[in-house]
Amino acid sequence: MPVLLHEVIDGLQIIPSGIYVDCTFGGGGHSKKILEKLSSEGKLVAFDQDEDARKNIPQDERVIFVPHNFRHLQRFLRFHKISKVNGILADLGVSSHQINEAERGFSTRFNAALDMRMNQNEKTSAADILKSYSEEKLHKIFEQYGEVTNSKTLAKTIVEIRKSQALDTINEFKNAIYAVVKGNPEKYFAQVFQALRIEVNDELNALKELLQQSSDVLEDEGRLAIITFHSLEDRIVKNFFRYGNMEGEQANDLYGKLRTNELKVITKKPIIPSAEEIKMNPRARSSKLRIAEKRKVSE
Ligand SMILES: C[S@@+](CC[C@H](N)C(=O)[O-])C[C@H]1O[C@@H](n2cnc3c(N)ncnc32)[C@H](O)[C@@H]1O
Repeated sequence: MPVLLHEVIDGLQIIPSGIYVDCTFGGGGHSKKILEKLSSEGKLVAFDQDEDARKNIPQDERVIFVPHNFRHLQRFLRFHKISKVNGILADLGVSSHQINEAERGFSTRFNAALDMRMNQNEKTSAADILKSYSEEKLHKIFEQYGEVTNSKTLAKTIVEIRKSQALDTINEFKNAIYAVVKGNPEKYFAQVFQALRIEVNDELNALKELLQQSSDVLEDEGRLAIITFHSLEDRIVKNFFRYGNMEGEQANDLYGKLRTNELKVITKKPIIPSAEEIKMNPRARSSKLRIAEKRKVSE
């Protein structure tokens, strides 16, 4: 069930003959609606780094599937002889398919290999990280990406335990760290798993690289819509839309004048799902949609 579907479609202001990019095709829910709005001249470029998404691609001449990371947006658009697009959507994070397939290793509900790679051609799984990262690096990941309250103790415990025990599966890992769980175990494991997932898939850097290319790729008045699911991602998107950089710093031009950002913020506050949508689709709970528009050169 696509999150904030109507809000995304409204926000993209789709031009029927335009070219649109869905950076996170997944089950194709958002793409399906975009295609409904496009005429026979329109085009949809659908990225997904998970090969499993390919089976959801419709038989439709207007669709180009790019089975790669969206951090290579511009490169693959060029490859398909596209220099500018009218709109870009990214619905970040994992799909229900990925979460519900036990063997992908994303969910704390199952026991399977601790994998968590969205792109199964990548080398490093979550288990590899637990085996090979230093204590300091593990500490940083759990603190920054999971906001785990006792991240230092957790990192120390992992490094100690891995000397004598395997941490290859979800249950092995959960049992090994059970003694240091703080508060509600379900919430604790969710934070720990989120941190590992972000690291395995280098999610924040991929998002930054996508944002950096977006204004080059957008036509004047083209729209960029990003759905995030946690505050780390949302902060990056908010800062980039507002200031043109991830740190949220106001930049001056050569003459000391405040530099105008190439993107104009359309959603001063993020759009969040209604209570009704959350009831129907609990995955929507923490979602936030932000929309920006590429400024016309004359503005
Ligand atoms: C939340 S789901 C998208 C669901 C989709 N909007 C729908 O309506 O079905 C996110 C999808 O994006 C993919 N994905 C996440 N990060 C990616 C990245 N950096 N590059 C390419 N695909 C990515 C995941 O593999 C997953 O299939």
